[in-house]
Formats: sequence, C-alpha cells, structure tokens
Amino acid sequence: MNWSSEFAERMEPDVLLAPLTWYRLGGPATWVFHPRDSEDLSRFIKMAHNANVPIKVLGGGANVLIRDDGFDGVVVRLDAPYFREVDWAKQYVRAGAGVDLMPFSRECSRRGLSGLECLAGIPGSVGGAMRMNAGGRSGEFGDVVYEVDVLLEDGCVQTWPRERLGFRYRGSNINREIVISTRLRLAVDNPTAVMRRYEEYFSLKQRTQPLVDRSAGCVFKNPSDASAGALIDSAGMKGYRYGSAQVSTQHANFIVTESGASTDDVLRLIDLVRERVAAVHQTKLEVEVDIW
Ligand code: EPU
Repeated sequence: MNWSSEFAERMEPDVLLAPLTWYRLGGPATWVFHPRDSEDLSRFIKMAHNANVPIKVLGGGANVLIRDDGFDGVVVRLDAPYFREVDWAKQYVRAGAGVDLMPFSRECSRRGLSGLECLAGIPGSVGGAMRMNAGGRSGEFGDVVYEVDVLLEDGCVQTWPRERLGFRYRGSNINREIVISTRLRLAVDNPTAVMRRYEEYFSLKQRTQPLVDRSAGCVFKNPSDASAGALIDSAGMKGYRYGSAQVSTQHANFIVTESGASTDDVLRLIDLVRERVAAVHQTKLEVEVDIW
C-alpha cells in the first residue's frame, strides 16, 4: 500500500511483533503506525476505515498471543509522548493510553493515591488494562475509572463516563473503539500505607505466579464457580509440555515458553488443556488471552 505523505514517515513496514509481546512470539505486521497525537490517529483511522484496511492496536503486549504468520494489516502503537502523558491533578489522575501500567500503578501508590495498588506487578498499558478491565481477586482497573476518551471508527473522539463503560470480569464495552486516555478517581491516603499494601500484593503475586518466565498471565478465564488454575491442576496438567511450551509448575493457569517456542506450540497446548479439563471436570474453559 502507498501511504499518503501525511502518514508515511510514521509508518514502518514489515515489523516483527514478537519483541513487542511478553510471550516474545508471533510473526510480523505488514505495517506499524506510530500516531503523533489523537488528531493524527483520528485522520488515520478515518482513512483506514474507508479503505477497509485491517487495524489492531498493540498496547504493552502483555495479554496477546500473536500467530506465527503475523498480522496482515496495520498495527497501531500509542508510543508517542502525547499518549504517554500523566496529569497528576489531585486525585483525578489522567493517564494516556500508552502509559506503562506497572510503573504507573506503583507511582500512584508512592504518591498516596489509592486504588491501583491491587494491580501491583500487572504489566500492560493503561489502554489495554482499561479495555480488558485488568486485575485480579483484590480489584480491577475499572473500579477506579471515572471517564475515558475513545476514538470511534469514524474518527470522532467521545468522552464516555463510567456508566457507559460496562466493566465486567476481564471486559468492558470498549470494543472497536480506541482508548486515547482515561481519567481515574483515586482516593487520597497515607503514602506509606498505600505502598505497604502495594508491596504486599506484589509479593503475593511473586510467590504464586511464574513472573520470571515468558507468558501472557492467566490463559483462561475463571469459570463463574471455580478457578481455572485449580481445575487444570487437579486434572493433572501442571508441568505438561507441548514443544517448547509448558503448563507452569507454579500456577497451572499460566503457559510459559522457552526460547525456540512457537505460537503453534502454545495454541496446541491450550487445546490439550481444554480437552483434558472438559473430560475430567465437564467444564469448558474460555481463553482470556487475546489471540491474533
Ligand atoms: N490453584 C491451584 N493450582 C494452581 C493454581 C491455583 O490449586 O496451579 C488454586 C489456589 O491454591 C487457590 C485458587 O486456585 O485456591 C485460586 O488461585 P489464585 O489465588 O492464584 O487465583 P486465580 O483465580 O488462579 C486470579 C486471576 C489472576 C490474578 C489472581 C490474583 C483469573 C483468570 N486469574 O487467579 O489474574 O493475578 O487471581 O488476584 O482471573 C490474569 O488475569 O492474567 C491473572 C494472572
């Protein structure tokens, strides 16, 4: 495709996506576009939508599994300074979609702004965390969202209040829209107390999850009445291998990989785990990871 000069200088051809994901897996994207700001992105999205160009936004790459043949379309990366800004005005903190979640939740806690300490150690971008309502048993990103600026497919930017966002377990009403920034409502608290809670959540995560291995966090959603990790474990799949992918020996809802692994190894292992859990527990596990 010949990009107009308006976008060409921020358009990279044939980009390997693996290094941009926590799994370090997946083939190339035909193009990666780095918009300068929301107006630039808006014009691009409008043009791409009219020309039927497939688009995906890649945030921190912490919850995606990209197929070995990659993505034939344009991957948008919100890595320009405009999308990485944080405005610390009082407890209504505004964060751009491209802000790195892990240092951000730590910095909020360090400043005594409470609400994100339960996300300690969860990687990703603010936009990704917002869209999938990242979190765990102690709380979710959506709990503190006040409003969000989203870009629609027609290029218009709208501000959605939290009532419109429909936060649920690992999901929200953000679907084809692109998050530009979000405004959070945090609680002012004692910084020492917030940081203590942050460290406690972080150390619990370190004790129970394979954080040093390559993974995309939990692979399956928890069924409404059970923990996917416990089901996989009691079905005897902990440590089970396929190719260079393995069901973590530490937490059975993580699939970890070694160098040399392919996305196909992980996909095959996902199928094997689902089949075994269905046979042993009569439960169909639903994948949480976003497979491209
Ligand atoms: N368990 C096992 N074997 C295992 C893993 C867990 O028996 O291999 C048991 C645990 O002993 C515990 C129960 O299962 O009794 C629940 O385990 P855990 O507390 O680790 O929570 P989880 O339901 O497996 C959820 C989230 C995690 C989040 C943790 C902590 C999902 C799918 N997972 O895990 O989120 O970090 O709670 O808040 O909702 C993620 O979404 O990527 C993720 C890692």
